[in-house]
Amino acid sequence: MENPITSKCCNHQPWFVLLVFFVFCIELFSFDYSGFTAKKSALVTVLDDNHGNVINTQSSLPHDFTEITNASVYPLPKTDEKGDLKVGTEIDSCVGRYIFVHDLPSRFNEDLVNNCRLLTRGTDKNMCPYLDNLGFGPEIENPEDVLINNSWFLTNQFLLEVIFHNKMKRYECLTNDSSIASAIYVPFYAGLDMSLYLWGFNTTVRDSASLGLVKWLSEKPEWKRMWGRDHFLVAGRIAWDFRRQSDNETDWGSKLRFLPESKNMSMLSIESSSWNNDYAIPYPTCFHPSKDSEIFRWQDRIRRQNRQYLFSFAGAPRPEYQNSIRGKIIDQCLASKSQCKLLDCNYGTTNCDNPVNVMKVFQSSIFCLQPPGDSYTRRSIFDSILAGCIPVFFHPDTSMLNHFKIFHMV
Ligand SMILES: *[C@@H]1O[C@H](CO)[C@@H](O)[C@H](O)[C@H]1NC(C)=O
Ligand SMILES: *[C@@H]1O[C@H](CO)[C@@H](O)[C@H](O)[C@H]1NC(C)=O
Ligand SMILES: *[C@@H]1O[C@H](CO)[C@@H](O)[C@H](O)[C@H]1NC(C)=O
Ligand SMILES: *[C@@H]1O[C@H](CO)[C@@H](O)[C@H](O)[C@H]1NC(C)=O
Ligand SMILES: *[C@@H]1O[C@H](CO)[C@@H](O)[C@H](O)[C@H]1NC(C)=O
Ligand SMILES: *[C@@H]1O[C@H](CO)[C@@H](O)[C@H](O)[C@H]1NC(C)=O
Repeated sequence: MENPITSKCCNHQPWFVLLVFFVFCIELFSFDYSGFTAKKSALVTVLDDNHGNVINTQSSLPHDFTEITNASVYPLPKTDEKGDLKVGTEIDSCVGRYIFVHDLPSRFNEDLVNNCRLLTRGTDKNMCPYLDNLGFGPEIENPEDVLINNSWFLTNQFLLEVIFHNKMKRYECLTNDSSIASAIYVPFYAGLDMSLYLWGFNTTVRDSASLGLVKWLSEKPEWKRMWGRDHFLVAGRIAWDFRRQSDNETDWGSKLRFLPESKNMSMLSIESSSWNNDYAIPYPTCFHPSKDSEIFRWQDRIRRQNRQYLFSFAGAPRPEYQNSIRGKIIDQCLASKSQCKLLDCNYGTTNCDNPVNVMKVFQSSIFCLQPPGDSYTRRSIFDSILAGCIPVFFHPDTSMLNHFKIFHMV
């Protein structure tokens, strides 16, 4: 693939990131749907001063957000002297957190899921099983004493958009009144749509859904309020798949993010592009605990690990990329077998989609090497963090493009 980094830009939208991460943290990391504890910690984390500063250093607040800023950030829920949240009777705890979700025609989301049999291009796997359990995939039935029971699933790394949408359907502050909403969520499965057409289709076909989407959106009354600047998308593929800069058929991906309407919207994806309104959020891992106790059990296990390898690498060589360092890493790893563990992910060897195989290696390693693959970032970075293994980057963009992800993960 080509070099995705062509622009560093300004004009970040800090309030927006804050709000969306807030929702994201609540939705994705609130482990107990009914309990309030996890939600409280998500709130505290996101509104924490240090974190706020990190976000705010990105840029100043664009003027068109001021009216929403008041609503989104300032009316914090009341806390008692211990800092615990009180569900206030006098204030609406959803003020500033209301989200309006567009009811898109099913061709933009549900139809793609229903046609999962077609979503096989580029991999030799059928996507359908991965869509079980609201996008988590099938539960791992035999954790082999490597994982803990009932918390691990065979999650596909590209299904964030489906997982997020399903979580959002249960969000406590949904509203049908867009005038009180702080953000408008557009549940378009851009990644699934793109994966149908990335290989062997002309640009007209690749852009078709994107053009249809922005036309549909811009005709809605919600569009006029802020010209789409309060709209956001969540995509399960890397942003570069949606940033084709010319209509040359040999260029990669769709031009979704270069459409005029789309430029006004924010997009959260597993790898951002450094463009002004793209934001990176963590790849979905296979760990989906439903209770705090499952997290504590996992942390406990990880702390007690005996790490017999100094470093490890899980991946396949990339001979097609001339400057890929993967070949060298593999050679050196094989040359020091007592220090390094190699998990060869070439097709037909180990199944690296099964977290039992990956976690077994990462749990017994101190450092986990994370060279770029098809793109600069990898789901494996988050797998290593989960396993308590220190990720080692080989390219500055692995951390730059991961900037928000890493920072919001920890
Ligand atoms: C936002 O808050 C500021 C300061 O409290 C106030 O001056 C301004 O009028 C508020 N804006 C809106 C739209 O409520
Ligand atoms: C986990 O599940 C396996 C098989 O389902 C069972 O044999 C094992 O005892 C369980 N482990 C714990 C700690 O519950
Ligand atoms: C919004 O409207 C739909 C359809 O009328 C309804 O099913 C849904 O419950 C409403 N949602 C909220 C949050 O009021
Ligand atoms: C693009 O491909 C579609 C179907 O694959 C075809 O119908 C269409 O004519 C092609 N468009 C161009 C401009 O080649
Ligand atoms: C399209 O891109 C290829 C590869 O970069 C280049 O060789 C070709 O000349 C380009 N075609 C047009 C019409 O610009
Ligand atoms: C994008 O937003 C600007 C105002 O910020 C507006 O002038 C422009 O028309 C919007 N673009 C579209 C396609 O709506």
